[in-house]
Amino acid sequence: MELNRMPESITVTIESLGARGDGIAKHDGKPVYVPGALPGEVVQVQVVETRKSGLYTRMLDVKEPSRQRVQAKCQHFGRCGGCQMQHMTDELYRKWVQDRARFALAQQGLDEAQVEDPFMAPPESRRRVALKALQTASGLVFGFNAEGSHQIVDVVQCPVMHSSIWALVPELKRLLGNILPQRALAQVHATLTATGIDLVVDVAHEISLQEREACVQFANDFNISAFHWRSDGFLDPIVVRQEPIMEFAGVKVPLSPGAFIQATSESEAVMIERVQSACSSAGRVADLFSGIGTFTFPLARQHQILAVEGALDAVQALENARNSAPAAGVKLKQVVVKHRDLFRRPLSVKELAGFDAVVIDPPRAGAQMQMEQLAQSGVKTVVSVSCNPNTFARDARILVEGGYELNTVLPVDQFLWSTHLELVGVFTRP
Ligand SMILES: C[S@@+](CC[C@H](N)C(=O)[O-])C[C@H]1O[C@@H](n2cnc3c(N)ncnc32)[C@H](O)[C@@H]1O
Repeated sequence: MELNRMPESITVTIESLGARGDGIAKHDGKPVYVPGALPGEVVQVQVVETRKSGLYTRMLDVKEPSRQRVQAKCQHFGRCGGCQMQHMTDELYRKWVQDRARFALAQQGLDEAQVEDPFMAPPESRRRVALKALQTASGLVFGFNAEGSHQIVDVVQCPVMHSSIWALVPELKRLLGNILPQRALAQVHATLTATGIDLVVDVAHEISLQEREACVQFANDFNISAFHWRSDGFLDPIVVRQEPIMEFAGVKVPLSPGAFIQATSESEAVMIERVQSACSSAGRVADLFSGIGTFTFPLARQHQILAVEGALDAVQALENARNSAPAAGVKLKQVVVKHRDLFRRPLSVKELAGFDAVVIDPPRAGAQMQMEQLAQSGVKTVVSVSCNPNTFARDARILVEGGYELNTVLPVDQFLWSTHLELVGVFTRP
C-alpha cells in the first residue's frame, strides 16, 4: 500500500541483490530498493515511493560503479521489460541465480538444502515468445512491453529469442503493419516446433479475404507450419501447412496452438535428464501436470506411467501420441492418461499407493494440496519441477515436514537475464 510520495534524493551504498534483481541498500534502518544497481556501488537515487517494506527508488547516478558492471548485450536494456539482468558479469549473474533459489528455500527454513551450480540456457535459444503489436499513426510498433508499463518497445534486436523466430520479426512487422487498423493491439505467439514455427495472432480484428490471402502467402514464403488468427475468442486456422509437432524421446506429439512447452530445448533436455535419473530405479511413475508429455514419453521408455493433466487439448495430444508411437517404431511401457483438475482433486494417498516415483510440474501457484497428499504417501521419490522459487520452497517444506529429504535443487535459468527461474528438486524418503 502506498503511504506517501516524496521526491527525495539520497545517496546509498548497495549491499545485495534482491529477488527482483534490484540492488538493496539501507537508509535510516529501512531497505532501499534500487533497480539497476549492483552490490558495492554508491548510487544517487530518487525516492519514488515509501512503503512499510522500504523505499522504492529510481537511479539518478552511479557515483562509484562496481567492477562487476558491464555493458548490456542489448540496446533495449533498461527499457524493454524482457530482460532485467544484463548489466552484470556472467559470474555475478550466475551467483544471483543460485542465491535466489537459496533465499527462497531459506525463507521456508530449508537453508541446508544443497543448491547446485545453475544451468544457464544459451542466448538466442528462446523458442516460445509472445510479442505485442500496436498500430499507430506512424506505423506498427512491434516488440515487448516496457518495464512496468503497457508501452511497447519497438525491438530491433533481441539476444534471447531463437534466431529462427527473430528472423521472422521484420517480416511479421510488415505483414501486420499492412493488416491491423489504427490503434489495434495484437499479441503474437510464436513457437518453434519440430516442423517449423507455429504462429497465433490474437487481436480484436476480423480479417478480410484479401488479408487472409496475405497471411497464407506469408506462411508459404517463410515456411510457417501453422498460422491461426484468434479474434473475440474464435480461433481461425488460416493455414496449417504442416501440423506443429514436438518430439520427446522419439515420440511425435501434436502441439495445439499456443500450448505449453519448455522455453528452450537445451533447458528441456537438462530437466528431462534430471527427472530420468531421479526415477531410474522406479517401476511405476506418476507424471502430474504432465502437459503434452515432456517428461511422460522419455520416462515411458523405461517405466509404466500415469500422466495427469488438466488441459483437455494436452490430454488428447498425449493420447494420440501414445497411440501412434508403436506404428512409428517407438516402444513404450504402459502409458495411462487422465484428464483431471489436480487443484480441486489432487491424487489421494490411496491413489498414490503403488507409485515408486512422482514427477510434479505445476503452474506458478504450485500444488499445495497435492503436496499435502504426497507428504502422507509412501512414494519413495518425488521430483518437483517449478517455475516459481517461492511456491517451490513452500511445497518443498510440506514434503520435508512429511518426512522427505530434499537431496538436491538444480536451478535452470531458461529465461536468460530475466527474474524468472525454474527449479528441479529431488526428494526421497529415507
Ligand atoms: C508448467 S506446465 C508443465 C507441463 C509439462 N510438465 C512440461 O514440462 O511440458 C503446467 C501444466 O499444468 C497444467 N495445469 C494447470 N492447472 C492444472 C490443474 N488444475 N490440474 C491439472 N493440470 C493443470 C497446464 O495445462 C500445464 O500443462
